[in-house]
Amino acid sequence: MNPKVFILNGVNLGALGQRRPEVYGTLTLSDIERFLREKFPEVNFEFRQTDHEGEMVGFVREATDAAGLVINPGAWTHYSYALHDALEVVDALRVEVHLSNVHVREYWRRRSVTSPAVHAVVAGMGVHGYVAAVRYILESIGD
Ligand code: DQA
Repeated sequence: MNPKVFILNGVNLGALGQRRPEVYGTLTLSDIERFLREKFPEVNFEFRQTDHEGEMVGFVREATDAAGLVINPGAWTHYSYALHDALEVVDALRVEVHLSNVHVREYWRRRSVTSPAVHAVVAGMGVHGYVAAVRYILESIGD
């Protein structure tokens, strides 16, 4: 069976392409989706984006039986204990991705409250961070 992988993007990530391209690049979320689908045709992807925290918690719960979950929580990374608590009980392999290198930006971006609830974190690699996360999931499940 093809492995199922959720790609979850949180608050403000629907504006990718227009939002601070010097920081986040010029690719839209649809470009990223297309890129991943082309790169991993064997993966059964579920792509979701929301600006509503409760809806994101629902998406995280939905991913529990998937092989993996890749999440870019956007600014929720820095303060959403609700998202942390939702993530920590999901069975799927979980990777947090940030397009930008949050460690060279504002001080408050260095702290992630969601990271303790995931298996791995990637930051600063743009779209390649999502690719690395999916590759890690596939290799970890022995695909
Ligand atoms: C981000 C980094 C966050 O600090 C920011 O709030 C975002 C995007 C990133 O992908 O680099 O919305 O998660």
